[in-house]
Amino acid sequence: MSSMPPASLESLRRAVDALPNDVPLRLLLMRELVAEGHYAEAVQQGSQVLAEDADNSQAMTLMQSALNRMTGATAPTDAPADSGQPANAEQPAPSSETQPSESNFDWDAAANDLGEIAQPRFATTVEPIDPGHGTTSARFDQQQSALRLSDVAGMDDVKARIEASFLAPIRNPEIAKMYGMSMRGGLLIYGPPGCGKTYLGKALAGELDATFISIAISDILDMYMGVSERNLHDLFEEARASTPCVLFIDEVDALGGKRAGSASSSMRSTVNQLLAELDGVQSNNDGIFVVGATNAPWDVDPALRRPGRLDRTVLVTPPDVAAREAMFRSALAAKPIANIDVAALAQATEGFSGADIVHICNTATERALMDSVRTATVRLISMKDLKVALKEVKPSVGPWFETARNVVEFANKSGDYDELAEYLAQRKRHR
Ligand SMILES: Nc1ncnc2c1ncn2[C@@H]1O[C@H](COP(=O)(O)OP(=O)(O)O)[C@@H](O)[C@H]1O
Ligand SMILES: [Mg+2]
Repeated sequence: MSSMPPASLESLRRAVDALPNDVPLRLLLMRELVAEGHYAEAVQQGSQVLAEDADNSQAMTLMQSALNRMTGATAPTDAPADSGQPANAEQPAPSSETQPSESNFDWDAAANDLGEIAQPRFATTVEPIDPGHGTTSARFDQQQSALRLSDVAGMDDVKARIEASFLAPIRNPEIAKMYGMSMRGGLLIYGPPGCGKTYLGKALAGELDATFISIAISDILDMYMGVSERNLHDLFEEARASTPCVLFIDEVDALGGKRAGSASSSMRSTVNQLLAELDGVQSNNDGIFVVGATNAPWDVDPALRRPGRLDRTVLVTPPDVAAREAMFRSALAAKPIANIDVAALAQATEGFSGADIVHICNTATERALMDSVRTATVRLISMKDLKVALKEVKPSVGPWFETARNVVEFANKSGDYDELAEYLAQRKRHR
């Protein structure tokens, strides 16, 4: 077994992906990873085992040996680097102790690897293109989203509103017709950065079993005349060929109808193109659910918000205490943790965004990892790590609320931001 050809490592990875709960299989992969010098990945696999079974001694031992080799803190059998053993690029000697010394170990890469791979298993389970659609030529980012609204922590009233104004009519077109509800038009999600707008958009696609096509306006804009319009048209054509789909258009404010007077005429024609595509002037938009998102709804061209376009708005605010607890739970779900008091963490993070919480958990993980690497002793992520991370990570939504307060105070004559005004008033009362 120790002389497995390299290809079998890939097979093992695939097998583990397919059977994530098969611990012996994962241990086998770990053993092979260590043998082939993929130490950081071996440690990461080990942490997945420990997340399920905190006392698994085989996982601990393998992680330990991966860490030893990473740091060069090797067993007495350690041979000097060039011990006369013939080097064999194809097949690294199975349990060779002649592996990297400290000097060539890439600390940053290891931390990155771990930070990346140790993401929550369920939070972002989005698979690439559905092969059934045969859309390999897709120009824009298409995914089959496995996220559901139930994966979105908290936000109960947001979910209820979306259910009533967006999902229910789509799911029950006959009933919607009876109530005279239009099937046209889309949703505009707005709120401070990192609080789950994109996440929610993906969950909507999952709920509707629809392909998730996402694009940011800045990816479409082009300085050459007519190219932005062409890009927009291609985007919608691709969406029309991939129905049902959620077409998620991020940064809709970047079309800046309202931006600093200078809004050039070329920008105007881009906006007009978007309006024409949304209205389906020359084409059929059935089965395309357009969801716009923005941090700056006050910069969004008002024409985009007229009936039949992005006519329903939803404010996504920083998570409340229950939502934060759920977020900590999900962000830590796949990590090797011990004695974590998620309720206390949720209490301590008033005003933090979902992204901030993910960042706190990753910071704590890095701390535990680097500690393990330094001391060459595997240890679980503790409350201490999280408390230290909590001191380092500051809430990122402050500036957004400053702007929002001004808008509500000076630019809410139309009542567009009543929901926001109400939230701000409530927030003030709670402080
Ligand atoms: N309600 C939520 N439940 C679970 N995770 C969330 C939630 N909101 C945000 N997150 C996490 O925060 C990250 C950032 O959210 P994102 O949707 O990218 O924010 P936005 O698009 O509003 O800037 C997400 O990838 C997700 O991991
Ligand atoms: Mg986003």
